[in-house]
Amino acid sequence: RVKLPQYNTIDDAVSLLNKSKNIIVLTGAGISTSLGIPDFRSKGTGLYSQLENLGLSDPQEVFDISLFREDPSIFYSVAKDILPSSTKFSPTHAFIRLLQDKGKLLTNFTQNIDNLEGHAGILPEKLIQCHGSFATATCIECKYKVDCQKIYYDLKAGKVARCDQCIRKIREVKPGFKRKRSSNGSTGARKKRQSYEDSTDDEDEDIAVAGVMKPDITFFGEDLPKRFHDRLIDHDRDKVDLVLVIGTSLKVAPVSEVVGVLPRDVPQMYISREPCSHVDFDIDMLGDCDTIVTELCRRVGWELQHEMVRED
Ligand code: OAD
Repeated sequence: RVKLPQYNTIDDAVSLLNKSKNIIVLTGAGISTSLGIPDFRSKGTGLYSQLENLGLSDPQEVFDISLFREDPSIFYSVAKDILPSSTKFSPTHAFIRLLQDKGKLLTNFTQNIDNLEGHAGILPEKLIQCHGSFATATCIECKYKVDCQKIYYDLKAGKVARCDQCIRKIREVKPGFKRKRSSNGSTGARKKRQSYEDSTDDEDEDIAVAGVMKPDITFFGEDLPKRFHDRLIDHDRDKVDLVLVIGTSLKVAPVSEVVGVLPRDVPQMYISREPCSHVDFDIDMLGDCDTIVTELCRRVGWELQHEMVRED
């Protein structure tokens, strides 16, 4: 992509925000780090640095669909670290909401799975969760879908969540199982205790062979939601007049390719801690995204309302 020579400075960024009416905001993990949710690739603090002790050849394997099928416990041992523990959102989420309120947000393509855009009030029709989210989970065997609240305690405890529907079905096809095991000639208290122990073992057995629940996040090796392509190509490509990329290293395809498929005359701005060496943005604003969007709002004359934005 060849840079557009007319856009360089913060003043240009301010005037673009002022005049644009159809902004694509593409976000990544950097917009949630101020809430204590780690990003993936920051050295030392990112999730992948923290996973180096898991013994994987590449820490990204934790989100590899084949490995998940082989051993879901690896993902479940890590999921609790990226599960949002509250509905709090950052000033950057509030900024995207403000663009929506001003009638300027075309679409927020987010790679984040923390579901915080919803809590910030981004409308579902304007939000594409490119990598899915923790909102729901699906059984990898029978495709039974549940709200993630149902498996929240397993996720928090680092325990592989199993499918209730599979467990029910397993029990339906062997109705006499418990009765047979417990009527083994024992009597009285001994029999009672035996029966309890046996049924507990049976239940554990049933659960161990039931399908595994997988949160509906897109693993490596899985397709992105169809809405991602439909919205980008059929809806947004001809309308977009500004692209704002925030808090992502843009290292994962196909989201990293979004900037390349948009018309070349549409200005593109980048807000993140580190430069993105493989994309030539027209304007790079490097630093903490909450601070930068707050300053942009101040210069544009918009009031960014958020509890984490300081008045100084
Ligand atoms: P990365 O960790 O690759 O990139 C986050 C970027 O945000 C880095 O460049 C950080 O420097 C920057 N950053 C962190 N905190 C920031 C802050 N407060 N202000 C400004 N910048 C900040 O995360 P993503 O690009 O989102 O996929 O990663 C993309 C995908 O890779 C994820 O969706 C995930 C991962 O594998 C799946 O889970 C399927």
